[in-house]
Amino acid sequence: MKEDFLWGGASAANQYEGGYDQGGRGLSINDVELAASHGHERMIHENIQKEYYYPSHQATDFYHHYHEDIALMAKMGFQCYRMSICWSRIYPHGDDELPNEEGLKFYDCIFDELLKYGIEPIVTLHHFEMPLALVKKYDGWRSRKLIDLSVKYAKTVMQRYQHKVKYWITFNEINSLFIARTPWHQAGIVYHEDENKTDIMFQAAHYQLVASAKTIIEGRKINPRFQFGNMILYNCCYAMTCHPLDQMMLHNKLLPIYYFSDVQVRGYYTNTCKAYQKRMNAHFDIDEEDADILKEGTVDFYSFSYYSSLVEGRETNQSADGNLLDGGRNPYLKTTDWGWQIDPLGLRLSLNYIYDRYQIPLFVSENGLGAIDQLENQTVYDDYRIDYLRQHIQCLKEAIEEDYVDCFGYTMWSPIDIISAGTGEMKKRYGFVYVDYDDLGQGTGQRYPKQSFYWYQKVIQTNSEEL
Ligand code: BG6
Repeated sequence: MKEDFLWGGASAANQYEGGYDQGGRGLSINDVELAASHGHERMIHENIQKEYYYPSHQATDFYHHYHEDIALMAKMGFQCYRMSICWSRIYPHGDDELPNEEGLKFYDCIFDELLKYGIEPIVTLHHFEMPLALVKKYDGWRSRKLIDLSVKYAKTVMQRYQHKVKYWITFNEINSLFIARTPWHQAGIVYHEDENKTDIMFQAAHYQLVASAKTIIEGRKINPRFQFGNMILYNCCYAMTCHPLDQMMLHNKLLPIYYFSDVQVRGYYTNTCKAYQKRMNAHFDIDEEDADILKEGTVDFYSFSYYSSLVEGRETNQSADGNLLDGGRNPYLKTTDWGWQIDPLGLRLSLNYIYDRYQIPLFVSENGLGAIDQLENQTVYDDYRIDYLRQHIQCLKEAIEEDYVDCFGYTMWSPIDIISAGTGEMKKRYGFVYVDYDDLGQGTGQRYPKQSFYWYQKVIQTNSEEL
């Protein structure tokens, strides 16, 4: 692996930060969302109701533990840390005239702390959250108004942190807008019974693509050294059989994945995008100047999350769960406690497919294992997590060293335990560090390094020579 390959971890404010009512922060869409369990959708309330527990309010309390947590990341040897900024900490209502200075100061402290240890921050501007007030006032990303408001927020933080942050990611898993049954995290949208969901979905996608491009254009004016990435939820998919119809179904399954990255990398709606619009019979408005914005605001690198793979075909035997996307069961693969199929080779294939298609540097911005951990002797003996990560990193290395894929970094999800995005559960743990909270937020919040912590430390120390 190249000497300057970036090893680190990734997490998101709404699942980690907590401090929901501190430092002048406004309510975010996550603050009215309850936890659920495997296979069940999270319930969304209109307002906070006292008798319920909302996981984002405390999450795993990075807000009060950041010194300790960043020190733990540094101890593992992190060279980068992918994190997100909570929009409502900066603009509490999303359309405030002036930003919240206390919120800005909070992230100054985070970046200073990271830089103190030589950890490069990689910042996601939108990771499954937005100010709740924007949903109430504008109906979320149904409205074009969101483009300017989000660009205003992005300009504020890019201006403020231009000497501390070089890498920016605009929207987390932007394509999940097409996958989620209720795109609350993605766009602040809950569909009404009688509306045309397809058109709303394509319209919101268009606004986000324009917002992403506009942010990049504005960012480059602020600091030409900035590097911008997109972020795609990438599920490697296989056809169930070699029957041409199964292959065609596989082709169709990939259209919504390429829909977003084609625009973000190439700068226009390609034939793939148009084919998908047609197949879905989608209608949405495009303003005259949008095409120029999309053309100019293309990304410098392609980042993606990879957790599992799926099968597509006329007769998939059983359905399997995955990261938002579901598909057929693969008889050759084992699954996680949450039914996600474990497929390290799928990561190598994905890196190849993506690089062949776009030929720009890649970054693995999420990969990890959600599992039930037992705290014993103040640690967790998480061999299963080490196995998962070892095999995936091995495949990543092969893609780079044997297939010549240009990939410059890997951030494991998520170094410190956080709450799950899909279910809001605490017991679905990803971390190298165990956090003592349960599904109701009870516990000391104390941090305990798991065995995988020491394993990853070695991986970084040896630049993955020792896996
Ligand atoms: C990705 C998201 O979908 O997968 C993360 O970017 C999320 O926010 C991760 O946490 C794992 O999903 P889950 O549902 O297990 O938390």
